[in-house]
Amino acid sequence: MSTITNLVKNMPKAELHLHIEGTLEPEMMLQLARRNNVKLPYANIAEICDAYNFTCLQDFLDVYYLGMSVLQTREDFFELAFAYLQKVHSQNVTHVEIFFDPQGHTERSIPFDIVLSGISDALEKARTEFKITSRLIMCFLRHLSEEAAFETLETAEKYKDQIYGIGLDSSENSNPPSKFERVFARARKLGFALVAHAGEEGPPQYVYEALDQLCIQRIDHGNRALEDAALTSRIARQQIALTVCPLSNLKLAVITDMRQHPLRQMLQKGLLATVNSDDPSYFGGYINENYIAVQQALDLTMAEIIQLGRNSFIGSFLDDHEKTAALENFDNIVAKL
Ligand code: ADE
Ligand code: ZN
Repeated sequence: MSTITNLVKNMPKAELHLHIEGTLEPEMMLQLARRNNVKLPYANIAEICDAYNFTCLQDFLDVYYLGMSVLQTREDFFELAFAYLQKVHSQNVTHVEIFFDPQGHTERSIPFDIVLSGISDALEKARTEFKITSRLIMCFLRHLSEEAAFETLETAEKYKDQIYGIGLDSSENSNPPSKFERVFARARKLGFALVAHAGEEGPPQYVYEALDQLCIQRIDHGNRALEDAALTSRIARQQIALTVCPLSNLKLAVITDMRQHPLRQMLQKGLLATVNSDDPSYFGGYINENYIAVQQALDLTMAEIIQLGRNSFIGSFLDDHEKTAALENFDNIVAKL
């Protein structure tokens, strides 16, 4: 193993951009479909993998919403989330901030508390067994209405002890952040941390809206912010973290070749960029595979990899005390690698 791959694999990391429904591996999809009597248009794993050929975000989302239809019980959500946590524990992830899409489930009559309790059970088990710390972020599906987002937020209020933040995902084009300004204002009043997907496919204007109208604290993706120099300097100056997802960008044709990935440019412009997997089962790799793919394509240096690892804790929602401890632990371990 090269020294740099060794560094990637062994350094402690936080994952800040991960959709739990996007960790549904084909094997589990088939197993849960059988268990829950859900009809899928796939007969076997090869047919599922054949469907994972995307030309844009919407192509992927169609397959993603279909896949999550096999998730029905608290046990299903627990198994899904715990399998992810076991996987990233083996990749030396020590902190996770996980998105879930409750409307993808409540829309098909799965109760909110079934979804949340299954995921929370897994996070609790990972905390005791693996010492993985976590924050849960509930996303609104932006292709649905503002009214539906308000209803979902009202339900989430009852589970404030388990839900740390609010995010915004799904079809970006034609669903600007401004559509959700009022519901984000309400979430802010309730004390939730705020993030949003912006600038993945959407223009720099959507990143401005996410910052100025939604008042988000972190930008999910943010690639297209680089098209606007003033916006880029502002994000750098304010040290607003970007949760960047290299394999996702490649699979969803945000870039056509990993060598075009803007990650090094982001670091050179002083942005607080982090590396994440987004939907690892659909995009061909968990967090370490994302680091390795982009490291190899851009020939990132040890110093750049260390910066990215440190950024993952700096950009997290850990409190100041936890952050200091996580960074100290990071520096101690990296010094010995
Ligand atoms: N939902 C799951 N993954 C997503 C992504 N990359 N962009 C928008 N919505 C998503
Ligand atoms: Zn995402």
